[in-house]
Amino acid sequence: MPINADTLRRRCAEEMGAAARGFGDASWLRDAFLTVPREHFAPTRVWWPSPREDGLYSLIDRDERPNAWLKALYSPGVALITQMDDGLISPDGPAKGALTSSISSSGVIIELLRHLAPEPGERVLEFGTGTGYTTALLAARTGPGTVVSIEIDPAIADGARQALDGLGLDVHVITGDGELGHPAAGPYDRVVATASVRQIPQPWLDQLRPGGVLLAPLDSPFGCDLLVRLTGAGNGTAHGHFVAAADFMRFRGQREPRPYAELGWPESASVERWQELRVEAGPHRQQIIDSAPPRPLAQSRAESSTP
Ligand SMILES: C[S@@+](CC[C@H](N)C(=O)[O-])C[C@H]1O[C@@H](n2cnc3c(N)ncnc32)[C@H](O)[C@@H]1O
Repeated sequence: MPINADTLRRRCAEEMGAAARGFGDASWLRDAFLTVPREHFAPTRVWWPSPREDGLYSLIDRDERPNAWLKALYSPGVALITQMDDGLISPDGPAKGALTSSISSSGVIIELLRHLAPEPGERVLEFGTGTGYTTALLAARTGPGTVVSIEIDPAIADGARQALDGLGLDVHVITGDGELGHPAAGPYDRVVATASVRQIPQPWLDQLRPGGVLLAPLDSPFGCDLLVRLTGAGNGTAHGHFVAAADFMRFRGQREPRPYAELGWPESASVERWQELRVEAGPHRQQIIDSAPPRPLAQSRAESSTP
């Protein structure tokens, strides 16, 4: 028997609402989640995000297994893979490759948008359009003509444009490198990325209005990305802190690892205290500052002499 997408969407919202952070007091976000049909944005064929025992990722084809496809889409913690190896692998069957695009999991997107907290009428710049689903949630909040979204992959950008047009959403999707931003429509009240960076690109800071909010997943030395929330301070600078741990696909131009010291991470940064780190970014470079008070000498001596 076919499952009803509206029922699954409601159940998914209830599940996320019951989770520790969920929608918080952002009722607009719950409304947007319930209004925007996630299934409208997902391609017919997607890969499940964890590999099988043989290392291949299973394909879920909507035409063959419509219920499995829909259930996977509305599993709060599941990001379904929509592209491997920058499109070199066709979605014809189980496959193995670098995961390069997805429809982000509902849970992660809800967390991201809750921290971004856009207001009606604000101008938003988004990077990593992907399917256009996050873009649609944003546009549902800020309104027609307010969202510019940049996607580097032309085929993916086209798909998102069509999906957004299909729902009559007035959003500007640009095919290009998000690291450059889009100064023509700036400055922006909110800047948000759904792919991660090792270093915040300076154009994002230059295009953020003073008092505006930038939210992006930043690679960390802790084996995960941390969502950084920065407030624009003018002159291309911004400061803030980390609000959550999450994992995202990397910006194409930032896939190569770089020494963390070069990226402004202090040696003292520890995973147990990531909430205490402050982040400053600007023309001079990004700096992650360990603001925890130094431990008393007697305490560190006692700890280091413990066998
Ligand atoms: C995790 S997906 C975003 C998914 C999207 N939030 C959704 O739910 O459909 C990340 C996207 O970032 C895109 N991307 C990677 N590097 C980029 C860049 N330099 N500029 C713009 N987009 C980029 C990828 O092609 C991919 O589509």
